[in-house]
Amino acid sequence: MPPKLDKRLRHLYEWVDPINQYDHIWDLCCDHGYLGLHLAKNPQLMHSQVHLVDCVPAIMDRLVKQCSKSDYGNLHFHLDNAATMPYEGLSHLVIIAGVGGDTVETILTGILTAIKRKKGATLHVLLSPNTNTYSVRQFCWNNSLELHDELFISEKGRHYEHMFFKWGGCQPILKKECFAGKGLWQVFTPAKQRYIEKLVKHYERCQKNTSHPYALKAKQAYSEILESYSCL
Ligand SMILES: C[S@@+](CC[C@H](N)C(=O)[O-])C[C@H]1O[C@@H](n2cnc3c(N)ncnc32)[C@H](O)[C@@H]1O
Repeated sequence: MPPKLDKRLRHLYEWVDPINQYDHIWDLCCDHGYLGLHLAKNPQLMHSQVHLVDCVPAIMDRLVKQCSKSDYGNLHFHLDNAATMPYEGLSHLVIIAGVGGDTVETILTGILTAIKRKKGATLHVLLSPNTNTYSVRQFCWNNSLELHDELFISEKGRHYEHMFFKWGGCQPILKKECFAGKGLWQVFTPAKQRYIEKLVKHYERCQKNTSHPYALKAKQAYSEILESYSCL
């Protein structure tokens, strides 16, 4: 069995519901591959093909060697750029964790380009970006990825916004999107307060770069969250 999942990866694992009967589950930018390996070992997901993808040869070599002694019938290894793979098949779950928001957007652009060519394709996306969640949400909104769930995770002094998006082909989304997070802040903990304060300062600095596309809007959105919740 691969090493125990930490809190961040455990939460993404728990979002993978076998009821969805995915044809393909992609652990993109997998590095150590812990999440994909745990998913491949889940007996309820045996009908899904689980893919580990990383662009670094030494990482994939190590993973292939490490798994050669175990029985993983449904596991596949790809030494590849996650943004340019073909994504064959119809129903996909992709997980992108531990990379910056810019990389997330580049990879999602590639996936959507590949998947939109296939009639009847569906896509669920689990994200845990290291940075730029405001921009990632904006990107998803612009590309008809509908927010299905989200959660704020704190671990070892670091904070993460986890997002679960669904794309189906797709009807326009009627509700108003909030790029600073929708349901994350109603229970406002000291950790969330510190996290938002940091984002406000970050976007204040970004405003000095007058060509930054959304620094002002992001700063306003995060400041409003602070004003709404910090005095509760
Ligand atoms: C910090 S690790 C994240 C590991 C794991 N997903 C996690 O969250 O713990 C980031 C990995 O992303 C890989 N990576 C970055 N960009 C990539 C891309 N475009 N395609 C495939 N792998 C990529 C890097 O090689 C690195 O191994």
